[in-house]
Amino acid sequence: MIEQTLVLIKPDGVQRGLIGEILKRFEQRGLKIVGMKMVQASANQATEHYGEEIAEKYGKKVLDYLVDFVTSTPVIAIVIQGSSAIATVRKIVGATYPGEADLGTIRGDFNHTSKVYAKKNDQGHNLIHASESEEAAKRELALWFSIDEIHDYKLSHEEHIL
Ligand code: CDP
Ligand code: MG
Repeated sequence: MIEQTLVLIKPDGVQRGLIGEILKRFEQRGLKIVGMKMVQASANQATEHYGEEIAEKYGKKVLDYLVDFVTSTPVIAIVIQGSSAIATVRKIVGATYPGEADLGTIRGDFNHTSKVYAKKNDQGHNLIHASESEEAAKRELALWFSIDEIHDYKLSHEEHIL
């Protein structure tokens, strides 16, 4: 099934100059970028994005930390479209904790421990966000993009692949 999913290159990915490297991972897999922009997220937007789910899963402290981190400098927001895009993108991104992410994934390949943040909570600095489910993708896409910012076009290789 053709799906759309939301990816954010988090502030650490932008600051480390990894925008191109990260985009390349999706393009080389044949996925289509149908929306993209740099955004300075507000605390409201970040709280709505991570919301209660993160507070429930990890506690309020982690949520506060994450909102602070994600709003510290701009992020790149991307809409990725393709066959089973939600699960495929999650595979390309890798496991949540960079130290546990497999080599070959974005989080695994670019993991390094930040001296600045290690004391606080280095787990947040995992370069990238990707929607976890169809429901999450729908909600997150609506939060970051308006309809007219998502585009329809054909990639040249679409004729050659299923
Ligand atoms: O991003 P992903 O879906 O893999 O993980 P999550 O469990 O939905 O957590 C969302 C984000 O919270 C992670 O990507 C980390 O940036 C952050 N996090 C954190 O800062 N500290 C933790 N102990 C766990 C997660
Ligand atoms: Mg998640």
